[in-house]
Amino acid sequence: MIPADKIEEVKHAADIVDVVADHVKLRRTGSSFTGLCPFHNEKTPSFNVSPSLGIFKCFGCGEGGDVINFVMQMDGVGFEEAVRTLAERYSVVIPEKTEDQYDPQQHLKDGIYHALRFAGNFFHQNLAESDDAEYAREYLKKRGYPWKTVRKYGLGYASDRFDSLLKNAESAGINMQYLHESGLVKAREDDSGFYDTFRSRLMFPIFNPSGKVIGFGGRTLSSDKKIPKYINSPQTPVYNKSEVLYGIHTAKNEIRKAGEAILVEGYTDVISMHQGGIGNVVSTSGTSLTAGQMRVLKRYGEILLMIFDADVAGVKAAVRGISIALEQGMAVRVLTLPEGEDPDSYVREYGGEGFQEYKKKETVDFLHYLVGLAQKEGRWQDPIERRKSINEILEAIAVMPDGLSRANYVQELSSISRIGDRTLLQELEKIRNRIQKDARRTAERAAMRAGREDQDSRRPTSMNQDLQGGARQQEMERHADASFQGAVGRIPAGAVAKDAVSGEDAVAPTRRHTHPPKRPGYEKELIRLMLTFGDKIIEFIGGYCSENDFEDPELRNCYNDIMTRFQKGDPVSVEVYSRREHPYPELVGEVVLQRHWVSEFGMKKRGVIIHRDANPVNTAQGALKSLKIRYLERTREKFLDKYASASEDEKAEIQKWIRKVTGEWNRHRQEPAETLFPDI
Ligand code: GTP
Ligand code: MN
Repeated sequence: MIPADKIEEVKHAADIVDVVADHVKLRRTGSSFTGLCPFHNEKTPSFNVSPSLGIFKCFGCGEGGDVINFVMQMDGVGFEEAVRTLAERYSVVIPEKTEDQYDPQQHLKDGIYHALRFAGNFFHQNLAESDDAEYAREYLKKRGYPWKTVRKYGLGYASDRFDSLLKNAESAGINMQYLHESGLVKAREDDSGFYDTFRSRLMFPIFNPSGKVIGFGGRTLSSDKKIPKYINSPQTPVYNKSEVLYGIHTAKNEIRKAGEAILVEGYTDVISMHQGGIGNVVSTSGTSLTAGQMRVLKRYGEILLMIFDADVAGVKAAVRGISIALEQGMAVRVLTLPEGEDPDSYVREYGGEGFQEYKKKETVDFLHYLVGLAQKEGRWQDPIERRKSINEILEAIAVMPDGLSRANYVQELSSISRIGDRTLLQELEKIRNRIQKDARRTAERAAMRAGREDQDSRRPTSMNQDLQGGARQQEMERHADASFQGAVGRIPAGAVAKDAVSGEDAVAPTRRHTHPPKRPGYEKELIRLMLTFGDKIIEFIGGYCSENDFEDPELRNCYNDIMTRFQKGDPVSVEVYSRREHPYPELVGEVVLQRHWVSEFGMKKRGVIIHRDANPVNTAQGALKSLKIRYLERTREKFLDKYASASEDEKAEIQKWIRKVTGEWNRHRQEPAETLFPDI
């Protein structure tokens, strides 16, 4: 535990504007600052920072708190870790950790961070001093990396011994469990202990945006073709492959300034480009680009410049990477390097300025790149192949979230291909419909399956024969009635009402089979949509809300869990959640198997198709509106409370915030849901 006075000292010393500015481009508006929220996607700034109150608040997604909360959210660390990070930055001395009293998952993460930091220092020290790293030092010198660069990127060396890191970490008191969980050591097959994962390798520590080591890439210096050139840290609680971007820590501010991120393939490309004065460069470390990585980048800039080799693998492969970026709302440009060059070699040969010149001349937007590629492959000249290429290009345009950009690119494609834009737009609509339908069908199938399983598990065998909709529905209702009466019989009615209002601990384990808590319908609806319609809708809803918006604690946890899975790229569906631990199956049953769904199910059995969710986005927009209005109401009340007990100094500013929230509240009540939450 950190003493309370130390926490106060840190809060006092830390400049919230300074800390937030590492992640958000802030503009002064009167006594506070505004910018685009780093916690959700938005186009107009609703993220506010008040230096005098020492708090931040997003009126779009609801995130808010003090400087410590900001670091916790941004870095994904626990309270103590966040305080320590800030203490270090603002030179507040706090006593070493004593007792650990926080959440075990966070405790694990903090332990892993600690082990990784130790390893980073150890490898670096090794490279600097040890005799067997001599050839590694030579290698770096030959590659043109002065020691300054080596230090800046924390490069290191892992010796060829099986227990080098292991022994040193042990004697430094590093907990073996954490070292193991961090992927730095592996368990021996006979379970007799551990051994070092990385041996005889040049080590590239991988940092998260706030500068913590989260993993390593290790390059062999041997030319033996049988040895893998690189090995990387495995997936760990702090290293999520699908979100990692090498160089982001150093590049983020440059990306923000340029509004553009340059994406390259390798570690050395990043370092050489940075060294050549081109700072806004990150790499995917050889893996194919992911939506998660794009979401991270989008916090800092909207333009993505992809650098491709001259020897392309064809339109289809190129389209895949490009459309992942487009789907996340990035503006995508492409730069093709001359035959045989990669960014590293190019910059070393021609320097940063040479690269900038080349970039200025040769950068094209993704559309022209794809057309050019088809031309180079001879596909544009053949009418049939050309049709196919055009379709592939339309597939990429179809995933762009912004309608205006889609229209622009269709115009452009029309003028290049001399196919009328109406024809192209029709094709585009077909593709968009197909994408939507596919997503819906998959979701529906999963929902039906899960619904069936849920029923089966609730009423063994007898229900299986009784799948006629009407009968089944009556069964369900009777079932619900029975449990309701049971609940009323067991617990005083007042207790139920009180829990439902406070929304806290609404379902204690002892009351699992009693009357379900009254949860807001719009909250249930949002969860249902996310579970039923998959990624597109999750992203849509996730882009507009945060956990704070949810009043019901179980639905809030469920929302969080869905978003975490989604961000990791794990599947989210009714099926997945109906197999999870308590309370998920019950919750899924409650949100998905509502009465109308069951009767719809019955109708389908009888061959009647109902399009209840003909437009899930519309449904979501309506539910979001209710959610936000309620959230803003609550926030307003909180500020009003705060005002009552505030000092004179604070009052004026709190009043301003109350005005802001009230404005937002009114706006949300007046504007139609489609305008409030546009489907961009
Ligand atoms: P240099 O050869 O030192 O210039 O390294 P490089 O980083 O430029 O390597 P290269 O151009 O061969 O590969 C580009 C990127 O792909 C690397 O930075 C790695 O992230 C990744 N990569 C290359 N080889 C391997 C491998 O064997 N395994 C894994 N996991 N990744 C690799
Ligand atoms: Mn290379």
